[in-house]
Amino acid sequence: MNNNRAPKNNGTPPPRRTSPQRPQQSAGNPSPHVRPSDPNARKTAPNTANNSPRPQRPYGNDVAELSSRRRYIAEKKSARRAGIIAFFTVFLSLCLITAGIFALLINKGQDTGANDFMIMNIEGSPKVEIPMSEAYQNEMLYIDFSAVAKLCGFSAVGDASGITYAFTSSSGIDQYITFRFDSNSVTVNGHDVTMEGIAFMKDEVLRIPFSFIDANISGLVAEVDEKERTVTITREKMTGSRPDDPKYEEIVLLLQPEIPVTSPFEGEEDVPDPMDVEFISDLSEYEQYMNPADRDAYLILINKENPVDHTFGPDDLEYVPQKYAVYSGEYQATMRAIAAKALTAMLTEAENYGINDVKVTLAYRNYWTQNWLYTGYIDEEMAKGLSREQAEEIVKTYSAPPGCSEHQSGLGADMHNVYFQTDKELEDFEYTEAYKWLKDNCWKFGFVVRFPKGKEHITGFQFECWHYRFVGRYHAYQMYTQDLCLEEYLQKLASEN
Ligand code: DAL
Ligand code: ZN
Repeated sequence: MNNNRAPKNNGTPPPRRTSPQRPQQSAGNPSPHVRPSDPNARKTAPNTANNSPRPQRPYGNDVAELSSRRRYIAEKKSARRAGIIAFFTVFLSLCLITAGIFALLINKGQDTGANDFMIMNIEGSPKVEIPMSEAYQNEMLYIDFSAVAKLCGFSAVGDASGITYAFTSSSGIDQYITFRFDSNSVTVNGHDVTMEGIAFMKDEVLRIPFSFIDANISGLVAEVDEKERTVTITREKMTGSRPDDPKYEEIVLLLQPEIPVTSPFEGEEDVPDPMDVEFISDLSEYEQYMNPADRDAYLILINKENPVDHTFGPDDLEYVPQKYAVYSGEYQATMRAIAAKALTAMLTEAENYGINDVKVTLAYRNYWTQNWLYTGYIDEEMAKGLSREQAEEIVKTYSAPPGCSEHQSGLGADMHNVYFQTDKELEDFEYTEAYKWLKDNCWKFGFVVRFPKGKEHITGFQFECWHYRFVGRYHAYQMYTQDLCLEEYLQKLASEN
């Protein structure tokens, strides 16, 4: 048994309850007042460390008792102070942490709430909130051009490749912008303009970089408030305009900031003027035909939706000059006088460019000739084992039923340089220099490629690189530069009137 220990009740009084158990003097401990927790004490009294309770020292030493008590009170005060300080420290820390959490939550609320959207406020359209991830693409601000077009009063015609927006300025001149999907290339009144980013469709709406509006369209006030995350686009009011009767600045297209392009036909020198096209041949005598005074007289539309009957036909047919016709005699191609003259001008100019083998096979066809051709094709398809219905489905994509062919108008002509051709050879005319020249120049003579590539779903017929149609230079230029087939173009004109 450890001799430093004593039974609890060994005849000495118990320690006072208000007093902590003091260190007890023990045998071999020279300092009875050293606290047991004092590391030195342990050093000097290794045998007593951790062996509690020690034997109680009897009362009797009053000085030591008083001194110990003062120390105890001082220690207690100090402990209480430390406790209070600790309490307040913990309390303040908790307050700070709580405030921090609140601040974070508020911030988060803003991020997932209003701040996560850009508000698009385009005059004339409802305000819309666009998620920031959509409003900015490749760090560029995008806007809904369909809403801007509405504000500007533009009309739109689109297809799978892009959208053309058009309007007529107060001076009566047509203006247009063509955006191509997934491309940054834009045509502004016949000029190529490059946007900072691509145009693309989202939810049936054309989205383009905001910077294009800012740089290329005047007559609008386009503002971005980064702080409020708002884009505002409004029409620019004329100075002095009354609020109750606002007058607006005219919308003007710009090639780049401050360079207006008022028309594809006027202003800058490099803009071709269809009223004054230059040729290397002397075609002055043909000018009246290529660019007729009666501008709208040759826009007739004959197709599967707009048929004519067997009585329909022109009364001013004339032969295409033999020089430019494949067949002679009763099969020599004929056209309406104006179209035959314009065609003569075109093939004369082509010759002077070294294209001297393009000739017309067939031009005007009456109802019965078309019927003969069409039924002949059906017989050919049926001979391959198809039913009449199946044969008609196929033939209708490349030959018009009687009454539905614009050859009946006398304004269309098939021309190429493979006169006794196989189908394949005829289709390969597309890859010749002759076709490339015709395609890009025929508008100058008043012609268009009537069944263009990519417009099959609109024209109802396969691409025909050999079929040209006279409409007159003004309209041919519009269709060529706006990449519109006759059906689209007429629809556009109708929507503008
Ligand atoms: N080949 C054209 C579509 C016609 O028959 O009129
Ligand atoms: Zn044809």
